[in-house]
Amino acid sequence: MTDLKNPTSKDTVLNVSGVSKRFGGLQALSDVGIKIERGQVYGLIGPNGAGKTTFFNVLTGLYTPDSGSFQLAGKSYQPTAVHTVAKAGIARTFQNIRLFAEMTALENVMVGRHIRTHSGLLGAMFRTSAFKAEEAAIAHRSRELLEYVGIAKFADYKARTLSYGDQRRLEIARALATDPQLIALDEPAAGMNATEKVMLRELIDRIRNDNRTSQITSLSDIVVGCQRWCTKARCVDMHGITGIV
Ligand SMILES: Nc1ncnc2c1ncn2[C@@H]1O[C@H](COP(=O)(O)OP(=O)(O)OP(=O)(O)O)[C@@H](O)[C@H]1O
Ligand SMILES: [Mg+2]
Repeated sequence: MTDLKNPTSKDTVLNVSGVSKRFGGLQALSDVGIKIERGQVYGLIGPNGAGKTTFFNVLTGLYTPDSGSFQLAGKSYQPTAVHTVAKAGIARTFQNIRLFAEMTALENVMVGRHIRTHSGLLGAMFRTSAFKAEEAAIAHRSRELLEYVGIAKFADYKARTLSYGDQRRLEIARALATDPQLIALDEPAAGMNATEKVMLRELIDRIRNDNRTSQITSLSDIVVGCQRWCTKARCVDMHGITGIV
């Protein structure tokens, strides 16, 4: 059985190999492979245009890879659609924040939580007691997650009114709401000021220590990001993961 309390546990959460993706004449990823162990924070570091976001997009079903095999916690999965990937246990944040701007912070997290719900359309239409109980549980869990990432006081604020740093934390709360085994954070510190970066680093550490999930972060800000934030790092050169830092 997986030792979830032990952050040094060596079991593999993600195992991908042979991932390639071509855009017209541009080979963005070429035979990329990576193994991610439970409880680790991996940094995917590389210059602009190296293919970090493309790798995340392939991993999470936004882009269809030309080739590649994908396993999550020992089970193979096909990253053919975003919702199947989320159900399989991978959540992500985006380099360019993608929130529902006109929805509240709480509602944004609830959206993430809904992929783990059971009441169907009929339950929602007729507002059955099972549906109401499930909605209450979703709201409760979502508030807990806002508390966890440190923005509970903004639960009822529209997402667009939050500061840049708080919007990134909200994206992390939404990702956590899906009960992921792995979170892919695409340039999580981009555009943050120094204070926001410190708070983000603490949050990433906390997620790791609580061992709710492994994390893979893409970082072009190598000096700031890698050594302080990650327990392991992989270097992305043009077209592929080329080395261990
Ligand atoms: N949808 C797309 N269509 C065509 N080319 C694309 C597409 N997405 C990415 N690319 C190209 O693939 C290459 C890798 O881009 P990608 O965004 O993955 O790099 P990155 O490492 O995330 O860079 P950055 O540090 O700037 O975020 C770039 O040359 C980019 O122009
Ligand atoms: Mg990128």
